[in-house]
Amino acid sequence: MANRRLAPASEQPESFAFTPENAEWAKHQIAKYPEGRQASAVIPLLWKAQEQNGGWLPQKAIEAVAAELGMPKIRVLEVATFYTMFALEPVGRFWIQLCGTVPCDSCGSRELKAMLQKRLGPPGHVSADGNFSWLEVECLGACCNAPMVQINQDYYEDLTPESLSKLMDDLAAGRPVKIGSQAGRISSEPKGGANTLTDETLFDGSRVGAWRKRFEQAKEAEPAGAAGDAPKTEIKAPVAKTGEAESATQQAATAPRPAKPDAGRPVERKASDAPAQRAADGEEPVKPEDRADAAERGHSLAKHGGARLHDSDALDSPAARVAEGEPAAGEEGNQELPGRDIPPPPPEASGASEAVEEKLDSDAKKK
Ligand code: FES
Repeated sequence: MANRRLAPASEQPESFAFTPENAEWAKHQIAKYPEGRQASAVIPLLWKAQEQNGGWLPQKAIEAVAAELGMPKIRVLEVATFYTMFALEPVGRFWIQLCGTVPCDSCGSRELKAMLQKRLGPPGHVSADGNFSWLEVECLGACCNAPMVQINQDYYEDLTPESLSKLMDDLAAGRPVKIGSQAGRISSEPKGGANTLTDETLFDGSRVGAWRKRFEQAKEAEPAGAAGDAPKTEIKAPVAKTGEAESATQQAATAPRPAKPDAGRPVERKASDAPAQRAADGEEPVKPEDRADAAERGHSLAKHGGARLHDSDALDSPAARVAEGEPAAGEEGNQELPGRDIPPPPPEASGASEAVEEKLDSDAKKK
């Protein structure tokens, strides 16, 4: 587990302030967040402070970030001590973060840890030459290529104690090193190379138009006159052997097909039968024949006694009654339908509610 304590007082600088350039950068970061949410910039500002301070975060830098963001110091300290990406003690020129979480542990990170312990001593201490310090951390998100370490900003994966030791030698000597897998893997492909999608024809374009070639070969292999009596669909020879795209281009040139008239456009049709449209055109909103139809339908339904709930609306509708020469609902002379301002009669008591009342009465008597 990582040690997340601040460095001893003897190691702490007396003050910290962003350089003018970094102060400008910090302002730009803070401006990314809405008013009142400046605390969201705490991680970028801590990261920049660590970078400015040679790779680790002193207490004064944490306090400076808190002041810049208007946050209580303890809240910034909570962030700095939670994330292992923030080093709280001085680090070497190359700061090694060794992943010790389960996938890396299963693949050999314990051996790497033993090697580091032997070569550099306990974690959190800078080597005598000032080149290295190391820390065990939790998963760094490169589990597919376990075991791995992060050194400063870069990941080194598929490590063995030997390859990590050589890597450290090269870094210390200033020799070029390879970032990423140290076992020759590309990205996180399987060890030993890719084992799926290995057919090269998937990628070289030779599969395009392969079906056409099969038809051509079948036609060539067909004996002359073996077609029989039944007419067969003619298989046209390809326009060019270079592929379907050229064939399609030639077909479009010799036998163009017209585009659909409405293609790509909204369909606009005049709603000539709508009552509003008829009224706008100066016509009767309801056609006389529609009136007659409605009246006839009402008669027919009434005669057969089969009017359903919504049909009764048509039967008794004001339009139908007007068409019949009767007064509309609520008008004087129509006694069957109540006027709008007459309240409906209260519902009659059902047998069920009476039974409930009797039960309540008998329960009350028992008590
Ligand atoms: S477990 Fe080591 S990188 Fe995820």
